[in-house]
Amino acid sequence: MNKDLLVLLHPFFAVVVVFPLIGVVVNRAWQVRQRRLQTLQGKSKIPPVVGQDHVQLGRWLTGAVVGIVLVALAVDISGSILDNQVWSKEPFKVALIGLIFAVAISSLVLLYQAKPALWRGIFATLTGIALVVLGCQDGIYRKTDQWYISHYYYGMIAALLMIFSLAIVQNIYQDRKNRWRSVHIAVSCLALLLFLGQGITGTRDLLEVPLSWQEPYVQKLYEQQCEMKPCTIQAPAVHKAP
Ligand code: HEM
Ligand code: HEM
Repeated sequence: MNKDLLVLLHPFFAVVVVFPLIGVVVNRAWQVRQRRLQTLQGKSKIPPVVGQDHVQLGRWLTGAVVGIVLVALAVDISGSILDNQVWSKEPFKVALIGLIFAVAISSLVLLYQAKPALWRGIFATLTGIALVVLGCQDGIYRKTDQWYISHYYYGMIAALLMIFSLAIVQNIYQDRKNRWRSVHIAVSCLALLLFLGQGITGTRDLLEVPLSWQEPYVQKLYEQQCEMKPCTIQAPAVHKAP
């Protein structure tokens, strides 16, 4: 498949699936909260089903967010593996990366099924660790020097917070003192801010990713720091025009 199309897969999935889902989940979350506060003082007109809706769609949201993070990581890591011919130099490394993708997906699937707190903790931690290890691989555009506006760090933290929410669903329901509920609200408000940040930083990053035929030219622009001074660039001779 064309490399440029592959890069679009992640933003497409974010815009068409994840953000609409966030809209509905947050709308239901607001209704759950209003309903709970209103029933403390009497009757509420909001139907009780909003709680179920929020959790069911929340479960989908966790899967969707982990899914798009994995898609983004897979596109960048595989691009770097192909560009640097890692497969022939370090086949073991490539196999290990494939294995970690499998661990991430299977531990998330097991987290969906797990009931006892210990197993929920274990599978949530495994999913999180697998994501972070994948995020440390070559080819990921992390922008660590500007971590506070980095699409990568925001996205990773948001995904980890969604995994956490999925892991504590039972705790939220069982805790009569509502401490887990408060933790969930705090964590989710932060996640919501990060999602807003993803909308901004993601569209910005999309501007920065050159089309594959432009890449050698754009690399030269950066190498010669053309953003600071006027310069003329010449793409490497090996490059073929489209
Ligand atoms: C951006 C995402 C999310 C936001 C902003 C959010 C926010 C909230 C809020 C405000 C409440 C109501 C708390 C109250 O009663 O005062 C709530 C309840 C709850 N949330 Fe979320 N949440 C999000 C995602 C999730 C996810 C991913 C899950 C798990 C899969 C989840 C599971 C729950 C559960 C189990 C409840 C209790 C529902 C009930 O009382 O019936 N939430 N959430
Ligand atoms: C919930 C929303 C989102 C999450 C959790 C998320 C997460 C991520 C993560 C973790 C990466 C990995 C960084 C890398 O591989 O280099 C990434 C890459 C990327 N994301 Fe997102 N993202 C989200 C939404 C968006 C949106 C809305 C757009 C654009 C409209 C977008 C555009 C991109 C682009 C272009 C890259 C590749 C950057 C590059 O390789 O140079 N993302 N995203």
